[in-house]
Amino acid sequence: MADRPVVFSGMQPDGELHLGNLLGALRPWVEEQHLYHNYFCVVDLHALTRQEPQRLTEKTREVAALYLAAGIDPQRSTLLVQSHVKEHAELAWVLGCFTPMGWLERMTQFKDRSRKLSSERIGTGLFSYPVLMAADILLYRANLVPVGEDQRQHLELTRNLAARFNRLVGETFVIPEPKIGALGARVMALDDPQSKMSKSADSEAGRVGLLDPPDRIRAKFRRATTDSGSAVDIENAGPGVANLLEIYRTLTGCDLAQLRSDLEGVGYGRLKETVAEVTISALLPIQERCRDLLADPRGLDQILAQGAERARPTAAATMGEVREKLGLLPAAG
Ligand code: TRP
Repeated sequence: MADRPVVFSGMQPDGELHLGNLLGALRPWVEEQHLYHNYFCVVDLHALTRQEPQRLTEKTREVAALYLAAGIDPQRSTLLVQSHVKEHAELAWVLGCFTPMGWLERMTQFKDRSRKLSSERIGTGLFSYPVLMAADILLYRANLVPVGEDQRQHLELTRNLAARFNRLVGETFVIPEPKIGALGARVMALDDPQSKMSKSADSEAGRVGLLDPPDRIRAKFRRATTDSGSAVDIENAGPGVANLLEIYRTLTGCDLAQLRSDLEGVGYGRLKETVAEVTISALLPIQERCRDLLADPRGLDQILAQGAERARPTAAATMGEVREKLGLLPAAG
């Protein structure tokens, strides 16, 4: 256990988890669960910037239930809610004191999100978001961080920040490596196959929600963008058809030969129906498990309490070391 690399990843409890999150993140995490010492976190403090209290509570449970339903085993992996382990916020403050403003000003995600708002309306939490993310990762001395391409810059900042702290204060943090799209599929939006399926895009038509009922899934695939042709040509598929084929290939686990025999030359209407049905059957057991977990919120909260309990000693040890190195006076007693 001790010598296995440490993995840390997290998802925000906002928006709607979708097929892209499952095939690009959750499923690969589950498949490699036995290789690592894992921390999977519901990063509720990161989602604090913009939602109703009741919705945040619900979404936090929902994301945790989806982790479990997708196959995260809470005995094997540490499943935790970020705000349950107070060291995340504590370390974020400390790291913020070592983060040059310029580093954060250069974050493209911040630039994108803040462009639409005046500085009077942007919380500083949005600005220092990557510092909290660095704290999440460094607290557990994670070696590997599986994330999407969109998080590469935040990971780079985490690495730079860890190195800077180590240099200025003394060797403290492990420098984590990003693990980007090594295993999973990259699922594109059904209505715009040039962009990744997004949980925050306004248009729901682009994403298949993990909790969508079968009819909604069928309707969304029916309206999916395809090419100008009318039948599948695997070698020359445009982005829309290629996306549907990729979803099919990933969900069925079939190889190219099988893909050809199943779908080459098939009309687009049939293709969409076939991919919809495969998706529905893959999601069904996940939806059932998720529903069972959410029907017993106390039971779910217990699992999360155990996860936090497991995470705390490591978080406290790192934070203790940081406090000592910085000369923060220990509380007597
Ligand atoms: N910022 C990540 C996202 O939006 C979520 C996240 C927060 C995260 N803390 C993390 C991911 C630590 C990996 C590791 O996707």
